[in-house]
Amino acid sequence: MIRNERMEVVAQQEIAQNIFELVLKGKLVEDIGTPGRFVHIRTTDGFDPLLRRPISISSSDSGEGTMTLIYRAEGKGTSLLAQKTAGEEADVLGPLGNGFPLAPAKSGDRVLIVGGGIGVPPLYGLSKKLKAAGAEPVHVLGFQSADVAFYEEEFSGLGETHITTVDGSAGTRGFVTDVIRQLGDFDLYYSCGPIPMLTAVSDMMEGTEGYLSFEERMGCGIGACFACVCHTDANEKGYVKVCSDGPVFRAGVVKL
Ligand code: FES
Repeated sequence: MIRNERMEVVAQQEIAQNIFELVLKGKLVEDIGTPGRFVHIRTTDGFDPLLRRPISISSSDSGEGTMTLIYRAEGKGTSLLAQKTAGEEADVLGPLGNGFPLAPAKSGDRVLIVGGGIGVPPLYGLSKKLKAAGAEPVHVLGFQSADVAFYEEEFSGLGETHITTVDGSAGTRGFVTDVIRQLGDFDLYYSCGPIPMLTAVSDMMEGTEGYLSFEERMGCGIGACFACVCHTDANEKGYVKVCSDGPVFRAGVVKL
């Protein structure tokens, strides 16, 4: 079910330049289920409705009743959210959207997980679940530069992890595809990040089952703005809304 809840801020810290990790506690966590879903969060207690923002759930712990969000503070709303500290509350609506399907991953499968920038967070919760199911995750995470890179250690704790940066300040200089082409075959892949990256990854992985999260395309997050519409055929007759039909789609469903 979808709840609108005032969740408790358990912790918040800046884990890279303008990238914040926010831990929230509340009943909403019970309903998250699959990784890759998101919440719609009011970033301030004022009355400006534009100050709700869709933010993906990075991971959740049903035992503790907590979930972790990782987001970039760049506009007015997220900058206000970044000021919240432990003990305060946040008004959260969710969980929303359809996440990454776990059923395609079988025990022993070699699974490629590719993230770009602020598309990396939901892949952490995904990788944890895949690992728990006996799959072997291999991560390739792309960032602009070392100062905005995060969670290398966390992903490394789950499996083989490669970092790329555009300027070469961490890991391999270049793009995720430069590393993927050296990694051999996979049974399955999942990816989340900017559209050009999703295009390049799905082209490279053609013939392998894959799932893509288009969350970067999201605007309002609640079906009201049409900013997230993507076409499902070349002549642009069919379409899906990323916020309500996605953000995760099987590779090939959305025309890139
Ligand atoms: Fe506004 Fe989907 S994000 S309609």
